[in-house]
Amino acid sequence: MIRIFYFSGTGHSRAVADYFADSLKAEIFDIEQDITVNGAESEISVIVFPVYCGNIPKPVKSVLQKINSKYFVLIATYGRISTGNVLWESSKLVKGKVIAAAYVPTGHTYLDEPAEFDSEILKSVLKQIEHPKEVVLKKERKGILPHIFPNLRSRLGVKIRRTNDCIKCTMCEKNCPMQAISDGNTDKKCIRCLRCAKNCPRNALKVSYNPLLKKYLKNRVFQDANQSDIANAQGN
Ligand SMILES: Cc1cc2nc3c(=O)[nH]c(=O)nc-3n(C[C@H](O)[C@H](O)[C@H](O)COP(=O)(O)O)c2cc1C
Repeated sequence: MIRIFYFSGTGHSRAVADYFADSLKAEIFDIEQDITVNGAESEISVIVFPVYCGNIPKPVKSVLQKINSKYFVLIATYGRISTGNVLWESSKLVKGKVIAAAYVPTGHTYLDEPAEFDSEILKSVLKQIEHPKEVVLKKERKGILPHIFPNLRSRLGVKIRRTNDCIKCTMCEKNCPMQAISDGNTDKKCIRCLRCAKNCPRNALKVSYNPLLKKYLKNRVFQDANQSDIANAQGN
């Protein structure tokens, strides 16, 4: 049985996960809300999640080791800035054989870009799923930035503020993967995934960015991963 697991703040990774679910006619699960399903062993688990500050997002990291599966497919979406080394890192965490992996460039969470991606990149992954064979991923050079207080940097760069439109419906609390928001106010566990703002039915959470981050995003130098992991995964 093939299962798709995803973590998604603003829908980009969810769109990729939906693509796999449709293509493979597989069941799809939110990685932390449906954790109970992980007790049941899958033949193949496809795990889709975003790159956060060159790292694996905290809610994903804590769950990767808990998923029982014979084979794993690892897919990391990213906002075309940097990928860190998250595919290799996640391949070390899962308890099973990795049979394919890919970075998928998408819009950036903080630029409010649509959840679109080029599915061409994933065609070879679908083929690898048809004939499962273990692959070894290459360890990429990660750079220094991902190591420097990634969560603190996000918190300083992005502010989430409750406005008067808030009716305390608690949708933000229910959707927060970190249990970091209460009455529309975030605490220091917040990872700035923006799932709260995205799921607020009244649009009552205002997100603002500090000028340095705005400038960094505006001048973003597109970095499309060279997909060497896919190449590796095919044994090239
Ligand atoms: C906290 C945070 C950190 C991010 N860090 C990176 C990064 O290091 N490199 C990058 O290219 N994109 C980065 N992004 C953008 C996301 O990886 C990208 O937009 C992703 O597709 C979002 O997926 P989602 O909508 O499923 O959450 C970051 C986004 C957030 C919210």
